[in-house]
Amino acid sequence: MDTLARRSAFKWSSAFSVGIASIDDDHRYAIDLLSVLDDVDGDALKTTLAQVLDRLTIFAHIHCQREEIVFQQVGLVLDAAHCADHDYFKRVIAETRAEVALELSIDRVHGIVDFIHAWVWQHLTDHDSKLRTVSVDKERVDRIARAAVPPLSSLIGLH
Ligand SMILES: [Fe+2]
Ligand SMILES: [Fe+2]
Repeated sequence: MDTLARRSAFKWSSAFSVGIASIDDDHRYAIDLLSVLDDVDGDALKTTLAQVLDRLTIFAHIHCQREEIVFQQVGLVLDAAHCADHDYFKRVIAETRAEVALELSIDRVHGIVDFIHAWVWQHLTDHDSKLRTVSVDKERVDRIARAAVPPLSSLIGLH
């Protein structure tokens, strides 16, 4: 599968679900947001990527806060590697957003898009998947997580 096909094949599915609705909603938002990049190329891809990075900046801030609360509520520690991966993502998103404001080759734009897809896929299937198997009242945890941090959909859209 080539890079473009692999990107467009990255869709939300129940395989990503951790069973805590607000976390799943956030993850689905990130995956849906990336799919906005599927149908554009060239200058339009660069412009759309800048908008996606703006939304990912808000996503990363809101979602990481929610995830810290959820891990605490389910009795897991958000370990150092997980925290470091969140911080790494926030830093790279800020750096690439600044880079996208400058002249960039289309190859570099594709490289940034590929990096974001790969990071989201890797993070969801590695660090965040630990929430899948915890045996707690996930509806109660979800209510706490929603009360503490507003839903992303109330703050930002996809377009
Ligand atoms: Fe995470
Ligand atoms: Fe997450």
